[in-house]
Amino acid sequence: MRIDGMMEKLVSLCKRRGFVFQGSEIYGGIGGVWHYGPLGVEMKKAIKDLWWKTFVTKCPDIVGIEGAILMNPQVWSASGHIESFTDPLVECKQCHARYRADHMKEGKFVGDKAKEADQCPVCGSKEMTEARNFNLMFKTFLGPVENEANITYLRPETAQAMFTDFKLVLESSRQKIPFGIAQIGKAFRNEITTGDFFFRSREFEMGEIEYFVKPGEDEEVFDEWFGRWKQFYLDLGVDKTKLREREHAKDALAHYSKRTVDIEYEFPFGWSELAGVANRTDYDLSQHEKFSGKEMKYFDEETGKKYTPYVIEPTMGIERIMLVLLVDGYSESDGTDGRESGEVVLRLDPRIAPMQVGVFPLVKKGKLPEIAQKIYRDLLNEGVRAFYDETGSVGRRYRRQDEIGTPWCITVDFESLEDNKVTVRERDSMRQERVEIDNLINYIVEKI
Ligand code: GAP
Repeated sequence: MRIDGMMEKLVSLCKRRGFVFQGSEIYGGIGGVWHYGPLGVEMKKAIKDLWWKTFVTKCPDIVGIEGAILMNPQVWSASGHIESFTDPLVECKQCHARYRADHMKEGKFVGDKAKEADQCPVCGSKEMTEARNFNLMFKTFLGPVENEANITYLRPETAQAMFTDFKLVLESSRQKIPFGIAQIGKAFRNEITTGDFFFRSREFEMGEIEYFVKPGEDEEVFDEWFGRWKQFYLDLGVDKTKLREREHAKDALAHYSKRTVDIEYEFPFGWSELAGVANRTDYDLSQHEKFSGKEMKYFDEETGKKYTPYVIEPTMGIERIMLVLLVDGYSESDGTDGRESGEVVLRLDPRIAPMQVGVFPLVKKGKLPEIAQKIYRDLLNEGVRAFYDETGSVGRRYRRQDEIGTPWCITVDFESLEDNKVTVRERDSMRQERVEIDNLINYIVEKI
């Protein structure tokens, strides 16, 4: 169902309920930088834990690392980022506003002032400079002297540490090809234009795998990884009709890629990239071998020969997973499902919902809150993300939890004193069930 003004509503909900705040808000903000509040940080952490469990813990052929954000600047010369990690920038000759030329051409900024794609969205002028390549890496200095020799960069992708550490990981983990190295971490890009809430940010996290294979086996492994990558979103309940694949045109491939296919989602602001899989060939390992003088080849014990492995790279932005789950899960009742018209339910998978259980005593005083507090503490001790709420009517408390996506609410009522049971209400169906208090923790834990 199409919901009018959905993004505005979601932005407002995210601020009001503590999912996402504008970075440095009290100073008027900072472009393209976001803070994740008490609920947002729980959701993001749950997404990263699920990602790690799915692609590292459960996979004998994948090991993780945590590389640093700062690397020797030669890494970025070797990787080609200093030369080629650019976007085409155009500037309005009248008001000096700057835009990505490719986004302009696509008509992304057509609105009030710009009736056509080639007009400046700020002042409407058609006088734009020629496109020039703008490097997206943030520069900084290592140590106290700010000179050319000390320039380095905040990493724009986590991938490079997995290439520079290839041999160290291979030897210490005793993996054999095919195998992968995985990493979740921050990346920084000085995007020309940010926007669409936190979709395009300047500081964000990505989850990436560099999967090393024998040349010749790369194309088959690419297809396997594409399937696994897409399945991650389907398993989280994302509407499959809103997902599509986009093959990058040969002349638009990143400098390191032989083939890239993106997974896109139909956001309210249009089809946009969630994740991608690239065939990086032996480009990165060969470049690092050339620049560092250290051999990056693999010795194949079976054939007794050495080769430079090919690399398949599945990658996804952590915040983009979060945004798609918020957008896809956002729903408003039409008033025919037992809810009042306009009531918001965030249909989040229990594994990544910021709160998994709400616990309510029917009244604030006496035995009921005592029992409810014990249940609440027991849930927390089990590692369940639980929220205790004793204010307002139970109906209101349900609505507050529905709006943040809490899958179950537990109410302790006067009957609980008689039968030692509580009411468990499920978010989507609103079905209610009486469950023995002694069996409650197992009942919830088994569902998560
Ligand atoms: N190592 C490959 C690489 O960095 P990418 O497509 O440029 O590939 C990987 O980025 C993922 O990071 C993207 O699929 C997207 O989900 C996410 N991403 C890229 N730029 C982003 C930005 N400015 N803000 C938030 N997420 C971003």
